[in-house]
Amino acid sequence: MTNPTEISARYDLTNRIFNAIARRYDRTNCILSFGFNAMWHKKLIGEVRKVPNGNILDLACGTGTLTKKLARLQSVKITGLDPSANMLSVAKKRLGTKENIVFVKGYAESLPFSEGSFAVVTVSYGIRNFADMDASFRQILKVLEPGGRLFILEFSLKAENPAKYAFQMFYIHRMLPLLGWMSTGEKSAYTYLRDSVESFPRTQEICHRMEQAGYHEVTYKRLTPGVAVLFTGVK
Ligand SMILES: C[S@@+](CC[C@H](N)C(=O)[O-])C[C@H]1O[C@@H](n2cnc3c(N)ncnc32)[C@H](O)[C@@H]1O
Repeated sequence: MTNPTEISARYDLTNRIFNAIARRYDRTNCILSFGFNAMWHKKLIGEVRKVPNGNILDLACGTGTLTKKLARLQSVKITGLDPSANMLSVAKKRLGTKENIVFVKGYAESLPFSEGSFAVVTVSYGIRNFADMDASFRQILKVLEPGGRLFILEFSLKAENPAKYAFQMFYIHRMLPLLGWMSTGEKSAYTYLRDSVESFPRTQEICHRMEQAGYHEVTYKRLTPGVAVLFTGVK
């Protein structure tokens, strides 16, 4: 998506949604993922831990759940970036003032950092919401230092096994909007979640687009029970 009108409409939509659900986001996330969210974050942190110490950008940090866990790693400075004022406000309350953490309001498509600023960029459940995924891949590549790593955690439906796929469809079409609505009172936010998960490109396409943007060693791992994927790419 490169049309400026479409991009600004997308920004308005996602800001409206995330500003509306910010206070109830964490609880709802835990309910909707049946608690798997914490396990998936642990897997992501495990990979980040393998990268030599350096600055980390937690892109689309939202309420700072992952940012807080990243800040426990040794000798790193963490930057959390998100466009939603309300999500950032929850994150700032959660983390308080800490020397090694800064929060910045901004968009993945136009990152306000100089070239080579970060050893690691993490994006947890964010990429699906970006107005222009390819532009964000290029921006991330620019702010990574040479050899730096991008980690993307995202929901991704698996089509190979028909029974599992049928359950996934039932879950995202019936249960997810209902549970999301019950937990937040915001029906549109969780129909948006359903639509964005469903329209998210297949894993192979994401890998291809990362390679096109200039990443090397692009790989992905499917995480138990199979609805989340961790992508990696190296600058
Ligand atoms: C589902 S939340 C994920 C929050 C957090 N990373 C987590 O693991 O819980 C998605 C976040 O993406 C942010 N977002 C939406 N569009 C964005 C964009 N263009 N650039 C950066 N962040 C964006 C939203 O404001 C929201 O906080």
